[in-house]
Amino acid sequence: MEILDGKKVSNDIKNEIAAEVAKMKEKGEKVPHLAAVIVGNDGASLTYVGSKVRSCERVGFESTLIRLPSTTSEQELLKKIEELNEDTNIDGFIVQLPLPEQIDTQEVIMAIHPDKDVDGFHPTNFGKMALDMSTFIPATPFGILELLERYNVDTKGKHTVVIGRSHIVGRPMSILMGRKGWPGNSTVTLTHSHTKNITQIISQADIVISALGVPKFLKAEMVKDDAVIIDVGITRVPDDSRERGYYITGDVDFENVSKKASYITPVPGGVGPMTIAMLLKNTLLARERHRMKK
Ligand code: GUN
Repeated sequence: MEILDGKKVSNDIKNEIAAEVAKMKEKGEKVPHLAAVIVGNDGASLTYVGSKVRSCERVGFESTLIRLPSTTSEQELLKKIEELNEDTNIDGFIVQLPLPEQIDTQEVIMAIHPDKDVDGFHPTNFGKMALDMSTFIPATPFGILELLERYNVDTKGKHTVVIGRSHIVGRPMSILMGRKGWPGNSTVTLTHSHTKNITQIISQADIVISALGVPKFLKAEMVKDDAVIIDVGITRVPDDSRERGYYITGDVDFENVSKKASYITPVPGGVGPMTIAMLLKNTLLARERHRMKK
């Protein structure tokens, strides 16, 4: 069994990006600038966005964090997005999800200019991804592809079972694993809450990508020997014995599943850090595209 070490690989990627940024600085070019908008005070979202901004600093990007109150109206958020669309200093931006219930998430995503949509959530970018065109690939699926590639994991002709059909992870992942090329050329089954015989389907998988958000859902007896296990779940479980009051766990019973797997991602330290590294990669790409357009 080999651990797919997202912490290490994400560090390598950040170092590669930092080297690119250093070259840009040497040439007197503008460095990439990422802005992140967060609405409300959700603890997990604040942690993620904080990490994204800190990572920008680490690689030499400029970053802007925009915090809006939980009572922000859709109209107010759309106005902020319009400002960011027009701000030529900003190469890319994200609006952290989920949003408070008074705001329609799809309206917000559609308001982001596709050239600045480094999350790859806009229908134009999502459509391009599905059509194998050059675009921003959503950071979490992009990070999973990068891990498979850097560890040389064979995906051709394999049966990949994706658990969960979210727009951020499951749906794009199912498209990407079935694309021509590598990582890809997989036969994909996308499972969800209405899937019948889900355990039987999972037991046939060569590659399992779980993005369910149910702690320790995936047990050793459910997976085939030598399966590749990608755990996208990040759940905070309340625990008063910890200083923070919770611990983080994934969808996979790591201790037991890891004994059967050929490759497996840990939580934390697997897919999570890769998401941030790939967001930076998309931002670098956005800067490059803006430079070429001028
Ligand atoms: N919430 C959970 N994951 C993500 C992500 O990748 N991007 C944004 N904007 N929000 C998220």
